[in-house]
Amino acid sequence: MKPIQVGLLGFGTVGSGVAKVLARNAEEIGRRAGRAIEVKRVAVRNIVKARAVAPAAVVEGLAFGNDFHAVVDDPEISIICELIGGTTLAKELVLRAIANGKHVVTANKALLALHGNEIFAAAQARGVTVAFEAAVAGGIPIIKALREGLTANRIEWIAGIINGTSNFILTEMRDKGAAFADVLAEAQQLGYAEADPTFDIEGHDAAHKLTILSALAFGIPMQFDKAYLEGISRLTQEDIAYAEQLGYRIKLLGITRRKANGVELRVHPTLIPAKRIIANVDGVMNAVVVQGDAVGQTLYCGRGAGSEPTASAVVADLVDVTRLLTADPEHRVPHLAFQPDRLVDLPILPI
Ligand code: HSE
Repeated sequence: MKPIQVGLLGFGTVGSGVAKVLARNAEEIGRRAGRAIEVKRVAVRNIVKARAVAPAAVVEGLAFGNDFHAVVDDPEISIICELIGGTTLAKELVLRAIANGKHVVTANKALLALHGNEIFAAAQARGVTVAFEAAVAGGIPIIKALREGLTANRIEWIAGIINGTSNFILTEMRDKGAAFADVLAEAQQLGYAEADPTFDIEGHDAAHKLTILSALAFGIPMQFDKAYLEGISRLTQEDIAYAEQLGYRIKLLGITRRKANGVELRVHPTLIPAKRIIANVDGVMNAVVVQGDAVGQTLYCGRGAGSEPTASAVVADLVDVTRLLTADPEHRVPHLAFQPDRLVDLPILPI
C-alpha cells in the first residue's frame, strides 16, 4: 500500500522531533498504522534555520520550502501537520487544509482555545478530522484518555499541572534557589517555553489547554476568554520557602469543575500538601487528575513539553488518522474529539 503523505508546517522544536521520531521508529509506526507515513514536504519561514535543528540524516530526506500554501494545496498530501504556532497564519492554513479535504494534526493549543469552535465546525462540515493530542500536556495522552478510556464517565473535575515551563521554574527555584529569570532562560533554551514566554509564566498557555480539556470533558464550547488566569511571575523565593515550611508545594494548576449552575475554569498558583503525588511532580513534567463518576480519580503524568515528548503525541495522531484513511472507505467516519453540533449549554462561572 502507498505510504500516507504528510505535509509539515513548521520545523522547530516539535516539527524536527516529529521528523526524528517518524524516521527512527518507521518500522513500528508503519506496522501499527497499517502503512508507512512519509513527510512529503516541509514548509518553514526560514529554511537555513530549520535545517540546523535536526540531524543531517533526518533533514536530508525532506523537501524544504517556504510556501505554506503550496503544501496545504498539494493534492498528494492527505494530512497537514500544523506546527507553526500562533493564531493568524495557522488559522488560515488549517481552514484552507480542511477546505481542501485534508485531515489536520495540530499541537496548537492557542489556535484551538481561541478558534476551535470555528475550526471543528468546518472540519465536521467537510468530513475531515482535526487531531490535537499534542496540544495539551505534551506527551501525556490525556485527549485519548478523555475521549476513549473515560468516555463512560460523567466528568466532575479536572485539575492539572499543564505548563511545563512554569513547573520547571518553580522546581528550580525551590531546589536550587535559582533566580526566576535564569530558569526561564534555561527553559527557553531547552525548547520548553512558548515563542512569547509570558504565555507560560502568566498562565495563558495553561488556560489554553484547560479550555480544551473543559470543552472535551463537559461538552461545552471553547471559551478561553472566560477563564480566570493568574500566573507565577509574582511568586518569590520567600513564597516558595514559606510554603515548604508549612508542608506545602506551590504549583501552577489549571482547574475546571462542573457545578450545579455552570463550569469553573481557572488557572492560578495553588498550595498543595507536600504528601500529595501531584505536589511531587517536578521539572518539565505535567500531571493531570481527572475525577469521573464511575472510575473515581485517575492520574496521568509525563513530560509536558520538549521536542520528542510532544512529537510522541503528534505522531500518535498521525497514526490514528492513517488508520482511518486505511480503513474501508465505507467505514471511514472521522471522529472528532470535540463535536460542535453536540454542545451543552453550561456557562463558565465568574471567579
Ligand atoms: N510552553 C509549553 C509548556 C509547551 O511549557 O508547557 C508545551 O505545550
